[in-house]
Amino acid sequence: MAKVTVDGRTVEVPDTTNVLEACRAAGVDVPHFCYHPRLSIVGQCRMCMVEIEGVPKIQASCTVPVRDGMVVLASSEKALAARNATMEFLLINHPLDCPICDQAGECKLQDNAVAAGLPVSRTVEPRRQFPGYDRTSIGPHVIADMTRCIQCTRCIRFCSEISGTGELSLIERGGHAFVWTHEGKELDNAWSACAADVCPVGALTTKEFRFRKRVWWLDKARSVCDGCEIGCNVSIEHRDRVVYRFLPRVNLAVNDFWMCDYGRFRAEELNGNDFTRPVLRKAGTTRETHWGEALDAVKAAVDAAVSKDPASVLVLGSARLSTEESWLLAQLFKGTVGVPHVEFHADLGPERRIKNPAVPGGWLVGREAAPNSRGAEAAGVARAGKGSALARLLDGSYTPDVLYVADAEFTSRVSDPEFILALCRAKTLVVHGRRTNLLTDAADILLPVASLAGKEGTFVNVLGLVQRFQLAIVPPPIVRTDLEVLLHLGKRWNAFDPQWTAKAVFERMKGTVPGYAGLEWDSAGLVGNDASASPTSAYDVLLERRLANPAEILAAVAEAAGTAGGEK
Ligand code: FES
Repeated sequence: MAKVTVDGRTVEVPDTTNVLEACRAAGVDVPHFCYHPRLSIVGQCRMCMVEIEGVPKIQASCTVPVRDGMVVLASSEKALAARNATMEFLLINHPLDCPICDQAGECKLQDNAVAAGLPVSRTVEPRRQFPGYDRTSIGPHVIADMTRCIQCTRCIRFCSEISGTGELSLIERGGHAFVWTHEGKELDNAWSACAADVCPVGALTTKEFRFRKRVWWLDKARSVCDGCEIGCNVSIEHRDRVVYRFLPRVNLAVNDFWMCDYGRFRAEELNGNDFTRPVLRKAGTTRETHWGEALDAVKAAVDAAVSKDPASVLVLGSARLSTEESWLLAQLFKGTVGVPHVEFHADLGPERRIKNPAVPGGWLVGREAAPNSRGAEAAGVARAGKGSALARLLDGSYTPDVLYVADAEFTSRVSDPEFILALCRAKTLVVHGRRTNLLTDAADILLPVASLAGKEGTFVNVLGLVQRFQLAIVPPPIVRTDLEVLLHLGKRWNAFDPQWTAKAVFERMKGTVPGYAGLEWDSAGLVGNDASASPTSAYDVLLERRLANPAEILAAVAEAAGTAGGEK
């Protein structure tokens, strides 16, 4: 460890820390563009200049390692003059088009220009133009505008060091240099939008979010991507009950600073409900109804079937339900009603990967296409394998009277008519649904439920880490969360109180569900920060975690995996 004094404040940091990070650890904000904690250090932008006692020339703080006893003058007149000169130099060619730039509001250049207090430009010369390289698509998700680029090279380093795909490089030299793709190749890799995340200005933006909402209008909720079992931590960014984007939320034990394009662009899928009221279908007629009648009908069908044979009810949970929801499902149907078949199925593949140096092998791999199979199993829902009731239903050797499906999208096979025909052999089909598909079309009783953005709870990811996701937007009127549906249904057997919240269920179940003992709702898996969910700024706030010993992070990950049931 090294003791470093920054502007009179002394901090102790690991010997491997650079001066820029030591300044941040001391609470001194040194502006910078090209430095990123996960990318190689290039000292490209010269924005992070500081004075170091005993060193004759002013230094780029990101390039200088700390040493014990070092005294840094980060806010001296000389340091400020150097940084202001850099800002002025960078702004010579910047178009200053903040009013029409989508990065405005989360732009490092804008922030630093305001902080530097440079209200006017001294230049009169025309600004550099890049005809043909402005507002141009360079891949399926990213638009490039080279008039705004400050050549920090973060995007180039991301593609060579993190995604390992190397699509981007600097073309030309000196004042003519610009970032572009090689030989007509596209910026097309599984994490391509992260290149836009690391861009400190508006040179790379994503097509999906561009011009949709000014970022200062966005509200943020800490959530977890439900695209696969990795469970990348995300910020759901929304306004007026519309989800506009996911941004990765820094979690050094899971997704580090990144997320894949597949997960990121699922964000918009969270908007909208095709059903706003429960639906009853009987003898060829379909009608909307109220929750009371719909849930009474479910109870009547289940009771009638159970009185004949409890095994004539098949309850299908889902690896997309929260652990709290799975626990309610298991408690109600297995515990209270006495149904033996409470199962879930999780689709395998396609494989998703996220780079994380804290994980053995450097990559976290997700093979299941759902976030919470471990939570479902821990809560008491059985994985449907060979010989399961679901398998027997599909091979025709078992026909339930009631099939209760708690997630209309529990498998991609719901778009397969043969699969739906097999499920339809049940006399009564009850389905929780949000989007129309063949399964919701076939349901006898359809219960409208909210998306991930409209509920809260916890998932257990591939490492066995319990991760909590927060409510982002209130679901439309009448629509309920899966948790609320199960609570109201359970009330009909006097099993649950409909007033329970996700937190109340969490408190009830945590003593019995493996991996949940000792967890607190308010802190369970909620790392990261609310205010600065953008990865271009979140790493600043998370510096303390960055300074933690990687071995400690690994140990914590291993311990959590061990206590929460571990690998499949
Ligand atoms: Fe140090 Fe760019 S952040 S030179």
